[in-house]
Amino acid sequence: MSNSHFKGIIIIAMPQITIKPDNIIFICNINDSVLEAALSNQVNLSYGCKNGLCGSCKYKIINGDFALNEYNKSILTDEELKEGYALLCRTTATTNLEIFVPNLQNRSTPRIAIGNISYIVKQNKVSIITVKIKSPAGFVFKYLAGQYVNLFVRNMQRSYSIANACQENNEVMFHVKHYDDGIFSQMVQNELKIGSVLRFHGPLGGFSLNSLSSSPILFICTGTGFAPIKAILEECINGKCKRKMYLYWGNKQIIDFYLLDDLHNIEHKLDIKINLCLSCENDVRYRSGRVTDCVVDDFTDLMDYEVYACGNLSMIENLYKLCCEKLNLNKDKFYSDAFVPSL
Ligand SMILES: Cc1cc2nc3c(=O)[nH]c(=O)nc-3n(C[C@H](O)[C@H](O)[C@H](O)COP(=O)(O)OP(=O)(O)OC[C@H]3O[C@@H](n4cnc5c(N)ncnc54)[C@H](O)[C@@H]3O)c2cc1C
Ligand code: FES
Repeated sequence: MSNSHFKGIIIIAMPQITIKPDNIIFICNINDSVLEAALSNQVNLSYGCKNGLCGSCKYKIINGDFALNEYNKSILTDEELKEGYALLCRTTATTNLEIFVPNLQNRSTPRIAIGNISYIVKQNKVSIITVKIKSPAGFVFKYLAGQYVNLFVRNMQRSYSIANACQENNEVMFHVKHYDDGIFSQMVQNELKIGSVLRFHGPLGGFSLNSLSSSPILFICTGTGFAPIKAILEECINGKCKRKMYLYWGNKQIIDFYLLDDLHNIEHKLDIKINLCLSCENDVRYRSGRVTDCVVDDFTDLMDYEVYACGNLSMIENLYKLCCEKLNLNKDKFYSDAFVPSL
């Protein structure tokens, strides 16, 4: 290994990265981010924007020195930085690094999969799509509930969470929100129909249930952030999970909620309290306010809890501050997937 010197600091040109506790080792070129090096070595770390904005690639560096390029300070606070956390998409290694990544051994290697749409329905501003993956007999497209894929339509790609738990019949479901000026979501809305061929790359990401824990759980989502949470809840049913759960699902209007029948089925099979939160309408059947308002009304201390949050970035930023700074949640127990727009 060769060394180079920069402002008195010894910089290793080809640092070695070790992922703990699994002891997975790969080399990181000094100009590459640790995330890029991991992905090109088939190490399936969680990521979203690849641009220091979403926090999906935040991991704890337990040994070694690194440099960080510009990032969103509300996603990685100075205090976290001091504790060793880094955004791996903005991190370059200046020495060998050891990084703590729980649950990595359970993640499948991402691959390209192709399937046909077997079901597609529009509920207000959301397309609910089921894809039957083409594969050799006996092959199952394996993923952890909560993970996402990159979908391709023509020459474009976007990330979408898988909205159902992994099942033997190789069917995966997506919930795609329509944006009036959204290039990809408009193509989904206008061009896809039953039988259309869909190609995707996955599974990706590290947003999944910590199955080793027995702590009570808060699931908090906005809009189509419900998709990965629904998958995790289905997995909890399959695994006969007995943990106490609370779901806070926020939308602006009643009409924005979808698949409520599925949600009521879930309610009967788990020890879960469901809160549907309305931020721009009032209705006695719903909670009033944003999800963060409802959480702060219901809880004074989250020390013993785990939080799984999914949806828009500003909700996740506000929720993180609320839970970790005001409600005593342990930072390591805040799991999130921010639906950041692609750049
Ligand atoms: C890990 C991950 C998982 C995701 N999972 C899902 C999912 O399950 N379902 C889903 O509907 N989306 C999901 N997204 C978001 C999705 O990838 C696209 O960003 C989104 O569908 C918009 O793409 P578009 O091409 O239609 O919009 P673009 O053409 O990229 O953007 C058009 C306009 O819409 C605005 N916009 C786009 N996306 C957002 C957003 N998320 N929040 C606020 N404004 C936005 C932009 O600011 C812009 O004005 C996920 C994103 C990530 C990173
Ligand atoms: S992937 Fe690193 S901050 Fe979004």
